Amino acid sequence: MRAVEQNPPTGRPTAAPVATPLLELLPGVLVKLECNNPGGSHKVRAARHIVQRALDRGEIVPGVTTVIEKTGGNFGFGLAVACRDIGVPVELAVGLGFSPVKRRCLEMFGARLIGIPMLEAGATPREVVEWHLARGKELGRQYHYTDQFNNPASLAAHEFETGPEIAGQLAARDEVTSLTFVSCAGTGACLSGVARALRTAGYDVEVVLVEPAGCDSRNGVFVDHRLEGASVGVAPPMVDWSMVSHAAPVSAEEMAATQREFAARTGYFVGNSSAACLHVAQSLSHRATKTHKILAIIYDHGLWYFKH
Ligand SMILES: Cc1ncc(COP(=O)(O)O)c(C=O)c1O
Repeated sequence: MRAVEQNPPTGRPTAAPVATPLLELLPGVLVKLECNNPGGSHKVRAARHIVQRALDRGEIVPGVTTVIEKTGGNFGFGLAVACRDIGVPVELAVGLGFSPVKRRCLEMFGARLIGIPMLEAGATPREVVEWHLARGKELGRQYHYTDQFNNPASLAAHEFETGPEIAGQLAARDEVTSLTFVSCAGTGACLSGVARALRTAGYDVEVVLVEPAGCDSRNGVFVDHRLEGASVGVAPPMVDWSMVSHAAPVSAEEMAATQREFAARTGYFVGNSSAACLHVAQSLSHRATKTHKILAIIYDHGLWYFKH
């Protein structure tokens, strides 16, 4: 019997970029399986770029620095993965409303969840980060706050990595000349970065912003919803609104129905924000032709979101 191929020599998982599949899983709808990334989502790309930029600038020094961030989970996994190989500890303020499964797994990935008593007492994740930054010395930490919402490297990750990767995969379908990119937005880095890169690559790209019903991110209107990671309560700072043709609201019921149907049909059980995008993508699929496709990102897997 042939031996199973060994892991890389260190035996450690690697955060090095590996292209994720782009598949036409529904007629006319191309899906980019970002859930296949190390860390389970597209956010590892932003994390890698942010960490690399900070290393290059001497803002992260392995053995000295601790990375700190407020995150709903996926960016935390990305940071844990990106910091692991360089030996930099990661401390995360994760809102208590976020998936408890994600919270437990973040610890398994080596991140330290901070400020839980503060969060239980009503503090926001931002306040937890600010409290720790103000007391870094007392706590024996030299913190670097990655500040994903204001860090241009988030956008660069998708403009110079995810987007060109999709363009390279589309090149195999040389009849495709235009795309409707259906995207939600937390920071907006993925939406703007991918759309820009595809335009640069010569595609005619229309962007549809998917929002939980009742939210209007552009105007700062938010309601409670289940699309974790999207429409997060602040206007997404990296959305280039000039590229967004319109917003498409999705209800929790529509999202859940699409999640079930897509799993039964394709074998992929996708996360909530991804299912919302698929719902809108499917509703637009009648517009797909040989030369025009609908594009959606599968940000992460659905198993995270079971409440136990
Ligand atoms: C599941 C999920 N969907 C969508 C997004 C939005 O991504 P971006 O911050 O690039 O806009 C995030 C961000 O954390 C996420 O975790």
